[in-house]
Amino acid sequence: MDRLFNLCPECSLPLIVEYDLNADPGLRNELRDRRADTSRYHELLPFDDPSELEGLGEGCTPLLAAHSLGHLGDVRFKDESKNPTRSFKARGMAVAVSMAKKLGAKSLGAPTAGNAGCALAAYGARARLPVFVAMPKDTPRSIVDEAKGFGAEVELVDGFITDCARVVQARLAASGGFELSTLREPYRVEGKKLMGYELLEDLGRLPDVILYPTGGGTGLIGMWKAFDEMERLGWIDSRRPRLWSVQAEGCAPIVRAMDQGLETAPAWEHPVTGAWGLRVPRAIGDRLMLRALRESGGGAIAVPETAIEPAADRIRRDEGIDAGPETGAALVALERLAQMRLARNDETIVVFNTGGNKYSR
Ligand SMILES: Cc1ncc(COP(=O)(O)O)c(C=O)c1O
Repeated sequence: MDRLFNLCPECSLPLIVEYDLNADPGLRNELRDRRADTSRYHELLPFDDPSELEGLGEGCTPLLAAHSLGHLGDVRFKDESKNPTRSFKARGMAVAVSMAKKLGAKSLGAPTAGNAGCALAAYGARARLPVFVAMPKDTPRSIVDEAKGFGAEVELVDGFITDCARVVQARLAASGGFELSTLREPYRVEGKKLMGYELLEDLGRLPDVILYPTGGGTGLIGMWKAFDEMERLGWIDSRRPRLWSVQAEGCAPIVRAMDQGLETAPAWEHPVTGAWGLRVPRAIGDRLMLRALRESGGGAIAVPETAIEPAADRIRRDEGIDAGPETGAALVALERLAQMRLARNDETIVVFNTGGNKYSR
């Protein structure tokens, strides 16, 4: 693509990048000798040349065996807190900001539940592009300060991330900046899909089950896309991990839509959760996410708010992993799935630690 795009100009739905892929077993071997960052997979990204990546060393995060959860199976944490700005959001912003710069953007903006704003601020600084982010006004101070610390202009909005989106769009319409909201441009998903590629590199095969704390859903959508690409590359067969979307009971639009058999997920009316990354009442990628969850044979599960922080605390204390509340939610979900025998102890189960414990007030 040679120009900046947000949603499809004809149907107003997210644009998804398609590659001309053929079986290429050689590439899989070549990867091993490359740099441990996003540029490692450059043929599978929208760059003409790996030097177009304005990177900060994101990606190639460790897959850590969970010592305290052996009774639940071969449980591993994919530790995304090791990324720049301590969350998986760095992956998406690395590719999206680099492409925006390449295609001529002069300034950037996005609404955020927190972590995406910090990542955008850092990558904007790296690409020398000014950044504007809008966050709900109750976003923890530590997150606001982190984004400001990377030079972003931050506006605090009286509302949820969906209200922040309106503020960002009005601001960018006036200033001519480019919007990098979740799935409203095609490249954040491209960066995040590499989590799927890395699982194959980490394990030599794909896991049986994946648990992913979900807001807008781009992590899941990206990995689902990666699995499809890897099949076309001849790296895997048609089997897929069962994907489980994890949400908090106080904001569970995807769980409700799954339970009701819907193809889209209507907005959640009063979203309440201290797992800030999960406080997304309406996901623009709902259709894509719901399809992936169903086709994978997995599903969506909501967990009680009171169980979230104690579970995150357990991961930190028992595993030494910098787990945020979103990952606490995923652990609670795993324990429930195990009780229901929807995740078995003879299986390999990957829990995404999507971000570190960054939310001090
Ligand atoms: C730590 C963390 N986990 C999970 C999510 C949800 O990610 P997504 O919106 O891609 O589903 C977020 C989003 O802000 C997050 O910050």
